[in-house]
Amino acid sequence: MSNIEQTLSIIKPDAVERNLDNEIKEVFKNKGFSIVKEKKIQIEKSEAERFYKVHETKPFYNDLCAYLSSGPIVVMILQKENAVLGNRELMGATNPVEAEEGTIRKKYGISIDKNSVHGSDSIDNAKIEIDFFFKD
Ligand code: CMP
Repeated sequence: MSNIEQTLSIIKPDAVERNLDNEIKEVFKNKGFSIVKEKKIQIEKSEAERFYKVHETKPFYNDLCAYLSSGPIVVMILQKENAVLGNRELMGATNPVEAEEGTIRKKYGISIDKNSVHGSDSIDNAKIEIDFFFKD
C-alpha cells in the first residue's frame, strides 16, 4: 500500500549563503522527492523562536534562533512515499561529523549549528511545520 507523506525541509542560511540551494534541491529530486511548494525567505528572530519552541529550554536555543533568522532560507514541502523518515535519512545525523557518507549534512554541513538543512522529525510535526510556513 502506498504511503505518500509530506514533510517540511529548510535549507538553512549557511547553505543558501554558499549558493548550495539549487544543488541541495537536486539531491532531494534525485532521491524521488517532489518539491510541492517552496519559497526563499528571511524570517525574524521572533518567528524562529516560535518555530523552534520545542527547543526553548535547551542551552543552544538563543543561538539557534539567531542563526536561523540571520540570512535567507529556502523552505520546501517535500513529498514522497514515507517522506518524513526518508528525509531524515537523507539529511543524516544532526552533527555533520557524525553523519554518514552520502547524506546532505555529511557533504554540506559545517557544524552542528550550520548543518545546512532542517527536516521535520515526525508526521505530526511535519503537519505543524508545513502549516507554520505555508498556511494561507
Ligand atoms: P535542526 O534539525 O534544525 O533542529 C534543531 C537544531 O538545533 C539542530 O538542527 C541543530 O542545528 C541545532 N543544535 C545546536 N546544538 C545542538 C545540540 N547540542 N543538539 C541538537 N541540536 C543542536
